[in-house]
Amino acid sequence: MTQPLWTAVDGYFNDSLGANDATLDHALAKSRAEGLPAIAVAANQGKLLNLLARSIGAKAILEVGTLGGYSTIWLARALGEGGRLVTLEIDPHHAAVARANLAFAGLDGVAEVRQGPALELLPGLEAESGPPFDLVFIDADKPSNPGYFAWALKMTRPGGLIIVDNVVRGGAVIDENGDASVQGVRRLAELIAAEPRVDATALQTVGDKGYDGLIVALVKP
Ligand SMILES: C[S@@+](CC[C@H](N)C(=O)[O-])C[C@H]1O[C@@H](n2cnc3c(N)ncnc32)[C@H](O)[C@@H]1O
Repeated sequence: MTQPLWTAVDGYFNDSLGANDATLDHALAKSRAEGLPAIAVAANQGKLLNLLARSIGAKAILEVGTLGGYSTIWLARALGEGGRLVTLEIDPHHAAVARANLAFAGLDGVAEVRQGPALELLPGLEAESGPPFDLVFIDADKPSNPGYFAWALKMTRPGGLIIVDNVVRGGAVIDENGDASVQGVRRLAELIAAEPRVDATALQTVGDKGYDGLIVALVKP
């Protein structure tokens, strides 16, 4: 009653409610063919990101952790006219595959892939002092989550959302002696709990990608 059932239920709702198309399938197939790990968000999680971004009328989105650009496509499609997305990726090969996938999706004029360690790229991005981001999606190396969250908070407008993926880690998050990724999530939860500018919750998820979860934090208006 676990993974096969979760996968089948994801399949049922993805088919009935719609979550995927030829362009998204192409991004996954190209990523697989290029040897990227299969660690993109699930289709219904990508759609949730898209719906959340549309629900707040997002015009500017920041993503930390691009991989092959699968979640980037979901998010970039949520942008209204004149919107922009910046996504940060440390691995040059991942960044190149993502750029190709975004071009295939017709989103290369909207979504910019910046290559390098995100914590080194974020200060420059902030210094550009463009409009603040409406939504930040954090999905890179988990030990750096506290640092990513601090930057996200500086750069997200009041009323915007900060979403952090993979915070449950098969339940390992409750192990106070867990690995560096668990420590990154636990420190993040402490930071959020002590931060008066945000209100947040965490959701456990099961499905195509196993047992994990995400934090959704609202930057208070
Ligand atoms: C889970 S994958 C991202 C999946 C993607 N968001 C999606 O759902 O399609 C994490 C990505 O973060 C990248 N990454 C890891 N450490 C990083 C760092 N310090 N700075 C930027 N990117 C990093 C990895 O190379 C990998 O491509």
